[in-house]
Amino acid sequence: MEKRLVKTMIVKDAQFIISAVSEKQYPEGSLPEIAMAGRSNVGKSSFINRMTNRKKLAKTSSKPGRTQTLNYYLINNRFYFVDVPGYGYAAVSKKERRSWGKMIENYLLGRKQLKGVVLLLDIRHEPTGDDCLMYQFLKHCRIPVVVIATKADKISKGKHAKHVKIIREKLQADPEDMVIPFSAETGIGKDEAWKAIENLLD
Ligand code: GTP
Ligand code: MG
Repeated sequence: MEKRLVKTMIVKDAQFIISAVSEKQYPEGSLPEIAMAGRSNVGKSSFINRMTNRKKLAKTSSKPGRTQTLNYYLINNRFYFVDVPGYGYAAVSKKERRSWGKMIENYLLGRKQLKGVVLLLDIRHEPTGDDCLMYQFLKHCRIPVVVIATKADKISKGKHAKHVKIIREKLQADPEDMVIPFSAETGIGKDEAWKAIENLLD
């Protein structure tokens, strides 16, 4: 029998474009954008690197709060990955949190090119209040969302389904939304994640 081809994105080109602090700096043009959201340190930058097979495209750090700007990466001259600063990092001031909120809200609500959000969660833990707020906010704004349950290498494969179920329940996830176990370490879930992102782009 013929082997079924699994459709996955071939990343021929991936380039860092800009660290934007304000709207004026967002790239011009109408290329679609996919944004990565999630708690600080959850693995957003690592996700971008694994998805593009570029180890150092997006800066990663074991210290949370590393990504502070909207970082744009142009993929195959076709669309952008936008690395969004993480939330839930305790050591930021109230003022910083407010300016974070304003920037994210402006972006998520105002950006016409935004086709969807990849919401990253740690597969090991129940989603936090902030995670639930972010998910509900995206649903409320009718922004398509794909949930990535990352760091899946940290638990055995047999436990993935159970953890995905816990995540779905806590988020009160729409049955139509995907929750994909993923690991930036091993690459597990990468093809599925690309398929979901292709759907957002179509
Ligand atoms: P901020 O930019 O601070 O919001 O963090 P981030 O969400 O971009 O996280 P980042 O990609 O920098 O990863 C944080 C830490 O988690 C790093 O030490 C990564 O090596 C680690 N990490 C990320 N993804 C995975 C994964 O799938 N498996 C494992 N084991 N570690 C991961
Ligand atoms: Mg980051």
